[in-house]
Amino acid sequence: MRIDKLLANMGYGTRKEVKTLLKGGNVRINGNPEKSPKTHVNPDEDLVTVMGEEVEYREYIYLMMNKPGDLISATEDAHDPTVIDILQPEDQVFDPFPVGRLDKDTEGLLLITNDGQLNHRLTSPKKDVGKTYFAVIDGKVTEEDVRKFSEGVTLDDGYQTKPGKLVILESDDVSEIELTITEGKFHQVKRMFEAVDKKVTYLKRVMIGELGLDEDLDLGEYRELTDEEIDYLMGITNLEQ
Ligand code: URA
Repeated sequence: MRIDKLLANMGYGTRKEVKTLLKGGNVRINGNPEKSPKTHVNPDEDLVTVMGEEVEYREYIYLMMNKPGDLISATEDAHDPTVIDILQPEDQVFDPFPVGRLDKDTEGLLLITNDGQLNHRLTSPKKDVGKTYFAVIDGKVTEEDVRKFSEGVTLDDGYQTKPGKLVILESDDVSEIELTITEGKFHQVKRMFEAVDKKVTYLKRVMIGELGLDEDLDLGEYRELTDEEIDYLMGITNLEQ
């Protein structure tokens, strides 16, 4: 890979700015000053430094965010701030995007990456990856609802959902539940409850597969996934290609 591309990818500026950086003698490859933007480096083997600081090259970024209920899960939006807008510039240079969509008012676990393949696998209904939501419901959720969800319900547009696992945490005029579904139809959880004449008043995603939202993350905070978490996600989506 050309040194100017590597440095631009890693957020050291535009290709033009990187050229100036190189010309100024600020970049070394394996200890040797390098001025040509055309020089090739092997990111796995060569040690690149800028002003003495090591450049850690990597292609992919994997983030877990506790999404607040006022951001759009998209890369850009004409009206509202997005989950990408609140990332640090050093993370934005990777051009990441959210994995699937949470509604603007939905909080909780959102993965953000630039790994298109993982995104595809996690959002593919074929892979059957469970997404678990905590919700507050206006209305008394009953064992009858549990049974209906376990068979799949019919949404307002006639779509028959796959079975969902509904767990009642609190059943009263206002109920609290956990629901695990393997699909991601538009407003799916809200519409599943509408199908049983109830209304979701608060929604938070708490798990993707067995990967839980890090409780240490406040709303709007995020962190990188650990290697174990990345391996886990690769593993659960890799079962039958
Ligand atoms: N189901 C919904 O209704 N909204 C979300 O944001 C996610 C699942």
